[in-house]
Amino acid sequence: MSEVKKELIEKTLEDIGITGNIIFFDEIDSTNNVAKQLAIQKIESNTLVVAKRQSCGRGRLGRSFMSLGNGIYFSVILRPDSSVENSLKITSGAAVAVRRVLSKYCDDVKIKWVNDIYISEKKVCGILTEAASSDGGTLDYVVVGIGINVFGRHEDFGDELSDIVTTLEENTNSLLDKNLLIASVYKELLDIISELDSFNSVMDEYRKHNIIIGKSVYIIRGDEKRLAEVIDIDNEGSLIAVDEATKEQMRISSGEVSIRFSKRTDRNEN
Ligand code: BTN
Repeated sequence: MSEVKKELIEKTLEDIGITGNIIFFDEIDSTNNVAKQLAIQKIESNTLVVAKRQSCGRGRLGRSFMSLGNGIYFSVILRPDSSVENSLKITSGAAVAVRRVLSKYCDDVKIKWVNDIYISEKKVCGILTEAASSDGGTLDYVVVGIGINVFGRHEDFGDELSDIVTTLEENTNSLLDKNLLIASVYKELLDIISELDSFNSVMDEYRKHNIIIGKSVYIIRGDEKRLAEVIDIDNEGSLIAVDEATKEQMRISSGEVSIRFSKRTDRNEN
């Protein structure tokens, strides 16, 4: 199994033609926590914060993200010269970046709105985007935190998660190198963010590979859970869905969707 090493990420970035300021930890609570602190201290844009393990990896909606060391865990600090309305696009762009890289290793890599990545209907990657903006609505910074399950098997994630997650290793025969994966996703992410002003083709890619368009899903916002059919995702990254009971059309920019996947064993809802 390849070890994550700062020098090897640097070397790999050099090989693919870019440089990056890397802050590296063997173990940290959460790379997003560190990245946000560094962003507030005005560290340079595109800084990459990487940890071999996280003791308190964070997911969306206050959940935790299991970060035991078989995967890769990193956050990128971005300072796009852009308005806060674009933060959902950045989130969507991050999902496209990860999908592009993972699809070099296996088929059936999909995005689940907002930005989870699935292989054959099992979650392999989570992305946590956290942004801060100034009074004028300009983004001060965006931290994009990415966790990918690379090695091991779904059973390693315990009873609660094992039916709904997978690892890259379970889906490919290719040789896996964590440093190459980090460097490749980082490069794709920077390439995609540089296109933020003409983002429609990235959003086309996001839509094309999204698992939920045309599906019946539960849309969960706070305590509210509504069954709806997803019609589309617009160029801002918002979900366009029709409530199956009231036929009301909705445009949703935050929250979560729950979709019924085929069974691996006896549990199948995520
Ligand atoms: C989710 O699945 O809800 C999002 C998970 C995001 C996990 C990554 S791992 C690197 C970064 N640091 C964190 O604490 N979270 C993100």
